[in-house]
Amino acid sequence: MRNFTFYNPTRLHFGAGQIARLSEEIPPSSRVLITLGGGSIFQNGVWQQVEDALSGHHTSRFAGIEANPQFATLIRGLEQARAAACDFILAVGGGSVIDGSKFIAAALCHPGDPLELLTGTPISAAMPLGCVLTLAATGSESNGKGVVSHAGRQEKLPFASPLLYPRFAILDPRSTFSLPPRQISNGVVEAFVHTLEQYLTYPAGAPLQDRYAEGLLRTLIEEGPKALVTPCNYAVRANLMLCANQAMNGVLGCGVPHDWSTHLIGHELTALYHIDHAQTLAVILPALLNERRAVKQAKLLQYAERVWDFNLGKSEARIDAAINATRDFFQRLGVPTRLGEHGLDAGAIPQILAQLQRHGLTALGEHADLDLEGCERILLKAL
Ligand code: NZQ
Repeated sequence: MRNFTFYNPTRLHFGAGQIARLSEEIPPSSRVLITLGGGSIFQNGVWQQVEDALSGHHTSRFAGIEANPQFATLIRGLEQARAAACDFILAVGGGSVIDGSKFIAAALCHPGDPLELLTGTPISAAMPLGCVLTLAATGSESNGKGVVSHAGRQEKLPFASPLLYPRFAILDPRSTFSLPPRQISNGVVEAFVHTLEQYLTYPAGAPLQDRYAEGLLRTLIEEGPKALVTPCNYAVRANLMLCANQAMNGVLGCGVPHDWSTHLIGHELTALYHIDHAQTLAVILPALLNERRAVKQAKLLQYAERVWDFNLGKSEARIDAAINATRDFFQRLGVPTRLGEHGLDAGAIPQILAQLQRHGLTALGEHADLDLEGCERILLKAL
């Protein structure tokens, strides 16, 4: 096992009715900017609970943070926060609202051009941030990462800092009952791929991390489809919410190699073609596993055996079966797994590769040996 330092200061309040805890989590003297997305929280009762809990606080509201939060939108949020002299940010929504709010929290404390925070300038301070999660997917509610989209640059720009961990996160599974099927499925796929990217590399003498990842994967396979059939099943939603959180709160990746190449290639697909983040992962991952089957052979066989119960037959056949089962799982959730299903053909590949090159993403994977030729083969396999 590799050396690691684990740090996660976010306090989780998990379960029904926990939104009421906002009043004790946010100091009464705070001037709170409440950030939200396109308005789903007004329909599902979440806003009312937030408003009730913060009735004694000074608040202002910034709405309209879109999926794949846009830099220009967030600058408007930043200006509003400055004008209202806010000193606490409360994000209410999914990963996009939370990521966008992390950016606003950092930009509020940055004297220079906010874009610098997305292009390499380290984050040196940030306003305190809390969140009420309404979509179980990214794990942003208890990590220090974010991704902001910049339309003018056709880029998704990741940023990260230990200063950006939310102070607290409220996870009431009932807040997710109102999710449309597409977002339920996106969430399951995203948690599944986050887990695989910290698991499906090479053996690292880390059986506990392996078993934890396998437990998450099997739980997602069992519970994910149930949420589509019975959207208001509390137990199912609670399990999915916890899985998505644990997949990306840092614990799973302690001491083991990672391979984030599915995410990095997927980001280019969203930046160029506006495909939902999770849907890019569902397209790239099966093709990537196929292309990288030799370097990932030992873990692919372990994945086949322990997650899908494929124990018999030749190694290559078991690996084929595991990759096919993964693709089939995504498809059963209603998530497309081919570029063609998103209207893209081989003609799109040079542009995607050019973006990867422009961003210096030419040595990906757990061995930093996935070059542009390898990415091209993955994209061809994903057609
Ligand atoms: O804006 P509203 O009206 O709330 O609608 C949203 C949005 O349209 C809707 N939604 C959320 N909760 C709902 C709901 N609709 C009904 N009922 C509810 N309870 O869902 C839509 C998608 O929301 P979004 O926040 O975009 O989804 P997600 O949570 O998947 O976040 C995706 C973003 O997170 C980034 C992605 O790149 C993308 O920008 N990621 C962040 C990560 C992190 N911080 O660690 C890691 C991830 O891999 C990912 O890159």
